[in-house]
Amino acid sequence: MSVRHIRTKAVLATSAAMALALTACEGEGAGASGPDPEADPEDLTVGVAMPTQTYERWLNDGAAVEEGLEEQGYNVDLQYADDDIPTQSQQIDQMITQEVDVLIIASIDGSALTSQLDAAADAGIPVIAYDRLLTNSENVDFYVTFDNYEVGVNQASALLYGLGIFDENFEEADDAPEGPLNIELFAGSLDDNNAHLFWEGAIDTLQPYLDDGTLEVPSGQTDINQAATQRWEQETAQERMENLLTTHYSGGEELHGVLAPADPLSRGIINALRNDGWGDTIEDGLPVVTGQDAEIASISLIAEGVQHSTIFKDTRLLAEQAVDAAEAYLSGSEPEPNDTETYDNGEIVVPSYLLEVEMVLQDNYEEILVDSGYYTEEQVETGQL
Ligand code: GAL
Repeated sequence: MSVRHIRTKAVLATSAAMALALTACEGEGAGASGPDPEADPEDLTVGVAMPTQTYERWLNDGAAVEEGLEEQGYNVDLQYADDDIPTQSQQIDQMITQEVDVLIIASIDGSALTSQLDAAADAGIPVIAYDRLLTNSENVDFYVTFDNYEVGVNQASALLYGLGIFDENFEEADDAPEGPLNIELFAGSLDDNNAHLFWEGAIDTLQPYLDDGTLEVPSGQTDINQAATQRWEQETAQERMENLLTTHYSGGEELHGVLAPADPLSRGIINALRNDGWGDTIEDGLPVVTGQDAEIASISLIAEGVQHSTIFKDTRLLAEQAVDAAEAYLSGSEPEPNDTETYDNGEIVVPSYLLEVEMVLQDNYEEILVDSGYYTEEQVETGQL
C-alpha cells in the first residue's frame, strides 16, 4: 500500500500506532492512505456531518457546502443528526466505513467524537471541523469558523448600545445612564466550544459596567452554568425567561436588556416577555434583546423594532473556506490557516481560518443584508425565505 499523503500527525504517531493503523486499513481502498491526489473528482467523496435542521443556519451551511463541493465535481454525503449525539457518531462511523476521502464536521458535542476522529486518522481521512471546534483529540486537521470571541464582544456591545451606555461609535456615551439598569444573561449549549467563547467575549465587555453598578443582574445568575441553554433549544430559553420573570420580576421590577446568544433563543425570550405583557416593541417597553445568525425571522423582528440586534456571520463564506480546505486535501496539499494560536482543543492547537462578523441593528440591516442581496426586502417583510 502506498503512503502518498501522510498528515503531520501520522508522522508524529508512534510506530506501534502506525503499525496498528496500517493493519486496520489493509485491504481497504484509497481512503486508507489519504485522498489520492491523482484521482478524478468524481471518484472522491466528502462526508459532511451537520448537527440539526432546526436552525436555519445549518440548513444554509449544509446546502452551501454541498453545492460548492459538487461544483468542483466531488461527491457529497451530507447528513443531519437531529441534535442527537449517537446519531451523529453513527453517521460519521458510516462515512468512514464507506471510505469518504475528507470529513467536514459541525459537531453537536465537540468532545464526543474522539473515537470517530481516531478511526478517521487511522484511515488517513483528513478532518475539517466546521464552525464548532472538535475537542480532546489530536486528530483534527483544520478548523474553519468565525471570530467567536468577537461575536460575544459584538453581542455585548450591541446590548450596551441599546441601553444607551454606548454611543453610535460603540464608545461610552456622554449621557450614559448611571443605572442601575437590569439585565439577564443567556448562554448557549455547554458542549459547544463556541458557547464559551461567545460568553467570554460578552462578559469581558459587560464586566466593567457590572463592577461599577451601571448594570445589575437581579436573578444573580451570572455563571455560564446557570445561563446555559442545552442544545441551543428555543423552548428551553423561553422557559428559563418565564421562570426568571416569575421569580424576580413579578413585583414591578424593571428589566432593560437580555443578552441572548442566538436568534432562536432571542425569539423564545421575546415570546416570554411579550406573553408577560412587557410590550410588543422596544419602543413600548420590550427589553433590548440581542441575537446571532441573522435568521430571517429575527431580521424581520429587528426591522419592526422588536428584537434589538443580531450578528451576521456569512455562512456562504464559511462554506467556501470549508470547500477550499477540502479541495486542498483532495489535491494533495494543505489548506492555509490565518490563525495558528487561538484554538487549542485540549490536545493540539488546531490551525484555523477565522472569518469576521458584523453587528446588525435596525439602522444597518438594510445595508448589510438587503443591499448586499443576502435577503430580499420581501423576505424581511414576511420573515420567511
Ligand atoms: C453555534 C454557532 C452559532 C449558532 C449556535 C446554535 O455553534 O456558532 O452560529 O448557530 O451554534 O446553532
